[in-house]
Amino acid sequence: MTARILDGKVLSAQIKDEVTARVEALKAKGVIPGLAVILVGNNPASEIYVRNKGKGCEETGMLSRTVRLDEATTQEELEGQIEALNRDPEIHGILVQLPLPRHLDENAALAKILPEKDVDGFHLINAGHLMTGTEGVVPCTPKGALYMLRSTGEDLSGKEAVVIGRSNIVGKPMAMLLLQQNCTVTVCHSRTKDLAEHTRRADILVSAVGKAGFVTKDMVKPGAIVIDVGINRVDGKVCGDVDFESVSETAGWITPVPGGVGKMTIAMLLSNTVDAAERTLGK
Ligand code: GUN
Repeated sequence: MTARILDGKVLSAQIKDEVTARVEALKAKGVIPGLAVILVGNNPASEIYVRNKGKGCEETGMLSRTVRLDEATTQEELEGQIEALNRDPEIHGILVQLPLPRHLDENAALAKILPEKDVDGFHLINAGHLMTGTEGVVPCTPKGALYMLRSTGEDLSGKEAVVIGRSNIVGKPMAMLLLQQNCTVTVCHSRTKDLAEHTRRADILVSAVGKAGFVTKDMVKPGAIVIDVGINRVDGKVCGDVDFESVSETAGWITPVPGGVGKMTIAMLLSNTVDAAERTLGK
């Protein structure tokens, strides 16, 4: 079998087109959706992500603001910036780029963002909404991964889904979304015994590990949908967690890296920001 490609460029373009139309409709009502990104320090990977987020805003007609803070920023200064953006009527979405420098308390900072401006969906209120299946903001990467899964047209209900990774950003919210789709969900992690035994049962396999070549052909069930969330750098080249060449011989569907889930993350961030701007009209 040769896997069909889930093309992040094509799928994210669909979302961006919808976002662009919604931005235009908002502008006609006098609202320009605005996204603020707070970047502390100069982590090179974060710099690239932040640049891509700004580009996405530009492409879809949104206002983009980047707040750059020095590596030595204190918790108080960071939280002061978040509170200023909470009050700013031009800003509908606030994102604190992670990871923060080690001396800063990530959870405390995220808790300061107004839940309705939390376009990352990381605030405890939004995490609670996802957990209980009520309406809130859904984290961008798992939301994008689910969009890709649904684009296969396959019935997800009752499927065995295995998520590798248990982070708050990807693994845990991904598991919740798959549960909502009526999948039978297993979350594997670094302490899982005999990982391959789990992954070989997966009709849907999501890898969010951060290790190049981690998922190999022998770990994948023939015909499975494989979603690669990893973004790794090997000899200057970007690659995912999945050994793309060998796994595409056995999987039914596969996402490439680059050009896969990463593009969806940005598209979903823009979509969450327009949602937030639209909510202000209803008030
Ligand atoms: N760092 C890596 N991924 C993300 C993300 O989705 N949001 C934020 N804020 N930081 C990240």
